Amino acid sequence: MMMTFSPPPTATPTPNLPVVRITEVAQHLGETVRLQGWLYNKRSSGKLQFLQLRDGSGVIQCVVFKGDVPEFIFEEAGHIGQETSVWVEGTIKEDTRSALGFELSVSQLGVISHAYDFPISPKEHGVAFLMENRHLWLRSARQVAILKIRATLMKAIRQYFDDRGFTNVDAPIFTPNACEGTSNLFEVEYFEKTAYLTQSGQLYMEAAVMALGKVYCFGPVFRAEKSKTRRHLTEFWMVEPEMAFVEHEENLQIASELIAFAVQSVVQNCQAELTVLERDVAKLEAITLPFPRITYDEAIKILHHHGRTDVVWGDDLGGDEETLVSQAFDKPVIIEKYPVTLKPFYMKRNPENPQQVLNMDIIAPEGYGEIVGGSQREDDLAVLEGLIAEHGLDDAVFRWYLDLRTYGSVPHSGFGLGLERLVAWICGLHHVRECIPFPRLMDRLSP
Ligand code: 4AD
Ligand code: MG
Repeated sequence: MMMTFSPPPTATPTPNLPVVRITEVAQHLGETVRLQGWLYNKRSSGKLQFLQLRDGSGVIQCVVFKGDVPEFIFEEAGHIGQETSVWVEGTIKEDTRSALGFELSVSQLGVISHAYDFPISPKEHGVAFLMENRHLWLRSARQVAILKIRATLMKAIRQYFDDRGFTNVDAPIFTPNACEGTSNLFEVEYFEKTAYLTQSGQLYMEAAVMALGKVYCFGPVFRAEKSKTRRHLTEFWMVEPEMAFVEHEENLQIASELIAFAVQSVVQNCQAELTVLERDVAKLEAITLPFPRITYDEAIKILHHHGRTDVVWGDDLGGDEETLVSQAFDKPVIIEKYPVTLKPFYMKRNPENPQQVLNMDIIAPEGYGEIVGGSQREDDLAVLEGLIAEHGLDDAVFRWYLDLRTYGSVPHSGFGLGLERLVAWICGLHHVRECIPFPRLMDRLSP
């Protein structure tokens, strides 16, 4: 006897239907369209299934009414698991109760690929578990919002420089020497030699700026810091402008302007994402120029005033000290003119007080710590040679850098803005590990 087997019925997509992304549904009100994405969440109520569909551009509620679809589609809608990939067809309707303002009234639905037991449900999970599943965690609404804000900040930063005549120049990742001190270098075997992963593109930008006048690099940098704090990554992204004929004062202005511009760009373009993150937007709207500005000496006085008499002149300001100082302000605060002993060799001495360098650290409000470090650079050959020797650095590897002072040296300045610290502050996130797609930390190298 022949066994007959009939495969379960499957839906077939309607030919010639417009495929739209969720962010575009407003332009298709009343029309029948196809959406494609992943099931984020669902609930049912008798003859209705409410499917939350996400496609990366947004989330929309898709309503499946038993009377509107074939029986097998209604059944399937009731059984598909979170993160199943699907296509859905239906009519776009207004829905004033949802954040999006629209919903889809479903006429057809097909599974592209099933997902069962997706490990990350919308409930709470521990951080270790989420970090181990970072590749899947990225799909959650909060992580999507963070990634979009990060991308918006990168775009705004590039726009700020591109609109002002800067040229984007890329710095190398393999380097023969340190830029920000030798204590936190990653060593790499490089044929018969030792190379280091770059800590900063600055020295290369100083070469490029003599060619182009105004430049910036924007890429990953590496620090082998044995710091397990909420502000430290071993791999992070930094934008580093360098400007010829720009001195300390103007350097401060440009850094402040850049920060204000980037923050306002997120306020204007990322309202939905800030809402997902429950960020207090009023605090960001208040980030307007000018920013408060104090010297290192004044910062020490503020610390003493708050009872931190253990901190003495000449001590570096760590995360706790920065937080305490920044609490006096509701905008980023510029701390300038640090003791020479605390800063790298290349910073220019203050001609009015050779104990100080013409530098700035900019500290974010609300306890997010240092977001910018920068300075005017030493442009005198003899002085720079002295500083290299004083810091015990190998003259030979800096020969090319000294050439920049040998051939047409000019005053120049620049700074580095750490992207993940900026993202942490703007998004109101406790730890920088959520501010980069795949964080690299002392104790984390995967996924
Ligand atoms: O203050 P830093 O070390 O400055 C420099 O590297 C200069 N060469 C930049 C320049 O003048 N072109 O680093 C700049 C910024 C810090 O203010 C902070 O925002 C970020 O980079 N940063 C880190 N971000 C995450 N994890 C770390 N381990 C970081 N170290 C610095
Ligand atoms: Mg610094």
